[in-house]
Amino acid sequence: MKIDTDIVIIGSGIAALQAARVLSQKFDVHIVTKANITNGSSYKAQGGIAAVTSTDDNASLHIQDTLDAGEHHHSYENVEALVEKGQDAITHLIHDQFSIDRKEDGTISLGLEGAHSKPRIIHSGGDATGKALVDHLIEKLPKNVRIHEYELAYELLLNTIGECIGVKTKNESGENVYFASYVILATGGAGAIYSCTSNCSDSYGDGIALAFLAGAKIADMEFIQFHPSLLYIDGKSKGLVSEAVRGAGGYFVNENGRKIMEGVHPLGDLAPRHITAYETYKERAKGNEVYIDISQIRDFAKKFPTITKLCEENGISISDNRIPVAPGSHFLMGGVVADRYGHTSIPRLLAVGEVACTGVHGANRLASNSLLEGITFGKLMAENLLKYGKKQKNFQQFQARKTTNYIELLPTHKIQNEMLAHAGILRDSEGLNRLINLLPSFEEYFSINLSSLSREKIERLFMHISASLVANAALTRNESRGAHIRKEYPNKEDNWQNKWVVFKNGKLNV
Ligand code: SIN
Repeated sequence: MKIDTDIVIIGSGIAALQAARVLSQKFDVHIVTKANITNGSSYKAQGGIAAVTSTDDNASLHIQDTLDAGEHHHSYENVEALVEKGQDAITHLIHDQFSIDRKEDGTISLGLEGAHSKPRIIHSGGDATGKALVDHLIEKLPKNVRIHEYELAYELLLNTIGECIGVKTKNESGENVYFASYVILATGGAGAIYSCTSNCSDSYGDGIALAFLAGAKIADMEFIQFHPSLLYIDGKSKGLVSEAVRGAGGYFVNENGRKIMEGVHPLGDLAPRHITAYETYKERAKGNEVYIDISQIRDFAKKFPTITKLCEENGISISDNRIPVAPGSHFLMGGVVADRYGHTSIPRLLAVGEVACTGVHGANRLASNSLLEGITFGKLMAENLLKYGKKQKNFQQFQARKTTNYIELLPTHKIQNEMLAHAGILRDSEGLNRLINLLPSFEEYFSINLSSLSREKIERLFMHISASLVANAALTRNESRGAHIRKEYPNKEDNWQNKWVVFKNGKLNV
């Protein structure tokens, strides 16, 4: 099928839905999403939205916390925009009847999470903020937004002057080609390239791979945030145990009851996430189990209904006051280079949300700044596009793509295990080189004719591409900063300050 339209949004998380809501004021919008519309990492988000809403807090503090948690590897003006425009986005949500948790006196109930100097986390439904927000945005979605579920976008189309003019997709009925004035990537991150993740099981970095194959600029792929507390039973992660649990008084202990964050960082269990993740990793590497002790939290089940249910479903009783945890991949700070209006290095291709690298998260994202990013930059990007108005559609011949019909791909579980072992929390050059040698070369990725591959193979290819980008970027950055920890280079290095590892046209640059 061939579809001519104004806007195609690939992905259906919070950034996508927020953008679609605004864009539909003027444009025909199609959302293409590879599974069910609610099957994204946004929907699973337990932690809330970080935003300044109390008189005891201010934007400068939120900005400072963001910069400190991310080790000052940021675009300062984009951080400022995130925090300041974020307040407008929250106000808009509240006016739009998005229900947020409040205290008995009606004021907003603000939670505390890692590396925040003030309680500023807004929640909805206790520990189900992502679900509440996605449900709210879907309910508000105007009728002229068409949703195509179970459809995989697999190739961006560029015209002969290098503009993005559409996207090819596959669904059960076959192939589709969308020609559009603008294509927006909102596909989320790539947590599922690791065997232990809080993300959806098909979170392979599709948008990053699509953009990479189109020659777009990609940066900061070495910065993968590991969350320190995934519910972990019999060697498998079962879902997230939110940092809000530690914000409410929970703390990490090992199997002997030792408080493992004591003496490690002044913020203890609420240290920045890369620090808590590294400590839980080290404790487990010694052969010890790690738990969150919740004995000090009153009314746990009431405050954390989602986590309580998750534990019960997995045979863990909250009344034991100990939840077994391990670190797992959680968030990608890098991605498709974009400004705060979503513009990428390819004209008419935009990126928003976790897939985008706007420099707001630095080397380690501040807790609950990701839902904030989705609602804020989704809105900002869409409002800016409204100003451009409809673009003259220019559906000339798109550049034909490639050549080879065969590429040797590894099984999914093999990549996930190798990534966790060699590009996980602690990296060294030997392991990273091993990974790079296992994976195809960038030239091979560029020569493959994607139409010839099955949907399953395309997703696996995307996963390989994301893994290659992470491994190559991690090997290049010879220092430790934020979530990127190198065994041979344990310190932050001055010569890496303000340097980005960038891929463009399939080539690596620093
Ligand atoms: C959490 O609830 O711990 C995760 C929130 C976030 O990713 O910021």
